[in-house]
Amino acid sequence: MTRTVAQIPSEGGTDELRRDDYFPTLVFSTKLHDAEAMNNEILAAINSERDRDSKGIERSNFRSLGGWHSHNNLHKDPAFDKLTNRIHSMLTGVSDNLGYHKGRHLEVTTMWSISNPPGSSNRAHIHPGALWSGVYYVQAPEGAGQIEFIDPRTVNLMNYATYVPNTKRKTECWTKVKVKPVAGKMLFFPSWLYHSVEPNLSTAKGKDGERVIISFNINQRVKPKK
Ligand SMILES: [Fe+2]
Repeated sequence: MTRTVAQIPSEGGTDELRRDDYFPTLVFSTKLHDAEAMNNEILAAINSERDRDSKGIERSNFRSLGGWHSHNNLHKDPAFDKLTNRIHSMLTGVSDNLGYHKGRHLEVTTMWSISNPPGSSNRAHIHPGALWSGVYYVQAPEGAGQIEFIDPRTVNLMNYATYVPNTKRKTECWTKVKVKPVAGKMLFFPSWLYHSVEPNLSTAKGKDGERVIISFNINQRVKPKK
């Protein structure tokens, strides 16, 4: 949408300066209203999965630092149905907002959990083979690492302007974004957007110090006929 951002004086009048924002990077977010009850159930389901498969797999997590990563099919496990359904409900909002085809819907295609104990983090990565990806924070103690998204337009990082000092830069001029994890918060971001997770610096003892998330990939599918 073209908008006028300034009136530039010139001899005998003014000229309008207009701006269009093309190729934006969209991040959707929500905070579940009943997160506390949800998270107790989800944490119990994750813990039983950890008991079953204590080794897990290695992806962006550092297994050597204690980071645990479950298998990728938690969305097929009934213990996670409530969360999967909530994700799908939220995704109808994303489809509507973006004007996606009404005969298709966004569907979770893979889902996994990651637990980072203090000192653990996640490598920078993208999620190939998906349209959207997301994360849901199940447990986020104070000091748990923030997720960091970096500007995918590497050309935009080659040269940069100087901004007004001591003033918050406009979000559209950021080259990285950090989001603090909060239990109950959910983010949806394009799967091609590079992201990493800072080390968990929580000082809480035992399992309370762990940063626990559920992450998922999403694709657009034809809606099944009812
Ligand atoms: Fe990721």
